[in-house]
Amino acid sequence: MTAHQPSMVPGPAQAGPGTIDPGRVPRVVVISGAGGGIGRASALRFAADGAAIAAIDVDQRTCDAVAAEVEGAGGTAVAFGIDVSDEAAVQRMAAAIDERFGRADVLVHAAIQRMPGHLESLPAESFDRLLAVGLRGGFLLGRELGTLMLRQGSGVLVFIGSTAAHAPYPNTGAYAPCKAALVMLAKSFAIEWAGRGVRSLSVSPGMVRTPMTENLYSRPEILAGRSAIAPLGRIANPDEVASLVHYLASADAGYVTGTDVLIDGGFTMSKFMHVPGRD
Ligand SMILES: NC(=O)c1ccc[n+]([C@@H]2O[C@H](COP(=O)([O-])OP(=O)(O)OC[C@H]3O[C@@H](n4cnc5c(N)ncnc54)[C@H](O)[C@@H]3O)[C@@H](O)[C@H]2O)c1
Repeated sequence: MTAHQPSMVPGPAQAGPGTIDPGRVPRVVVISGAGGGIGRASALRFAADGAAIAAIDVDQRTCDAVAAEVEGAGGTAVAFGIDVSDEAAVQRMAAAIDERFGRADVLVHAAIQRMPGHLESLPAESFDRLLAVGLRGGFLLGRELGTLMLRQGSGVLVFIGSTAAHAPYPNTGAYAPCKAALVMLAKSFAIEWAGRGVRSLSVSPGMVRTPMTENLYSRPEILAGRSAIAPLGRIANPDEVASLVHYLASADAGYVTGTDVLIDGGFTMSKFMHVPGRD
């Protein structure tokens, strides 16, 4: 892995007036859920080697804060306070990126709205809402930003899945079905666009300490108990997920498409650690 692959691509950008030196333009990295743990870490990781960041979050305050953090460190960032399930808003966002930068190089779809509940009493609205943000949002972002990537003949879509795509989490409503479908959506983009320069894949984290999970990991007994069941003996931090996303979006991973990459400390493959008689 190259730790600091320069995030530059040959210019000029193919469309849009842009505000960038036409000789060398930064890679443009669009991140949904950018105000959250994994999204923010990804924004900072890509910005650290010069990428321009489009930070998307339904929470305007948090995506503004991430964009300000990137710019405060000398980078380039724009914030979009939009709901990724809103087709017109996603289309306006993609058009604004095209207008400003003339290209899109990487999508990281990390947005999720948890709607937990027991299936026997889960309101249909909860099921629909989780899928709207996680799955429909991924489709809309992939389609709209992928169109720019197809035009330029290059790009990478990274969908943040979950170990829940592989083994269901109880009492999380549509979360596991959504993640399983998102992993397949990544493969669907991959198979349709592989011959046109665009890669697509998913990254499936296990247990990561982020704002989404802080209510759990701030409880010492949960932190200790969950750390103990991960073969690596700890939960992950968002920077570790961001590093993997960054690598998979780089030219070093140029032959990787249509796959799901687990980052779970070995948890998913660990069931026989808990089976008696295997000492
Ligand atoms: N934290 C973990 O342990 C873990 C494990 C596996 C997978 N994941 C996945 O990683 C991704 C990021 O998770 P996180 O832990 O950083 O969560 P997070 O809650 O910190 O971040 C999610 C972000 O998505 C935003 N969001 C919600 N609805 C939106 C919408 N309609 N449009 C745009 N943005 C919206 C939220 O405002 C939030 O900032 C999610 O897809 C999650 O399912 C997380």
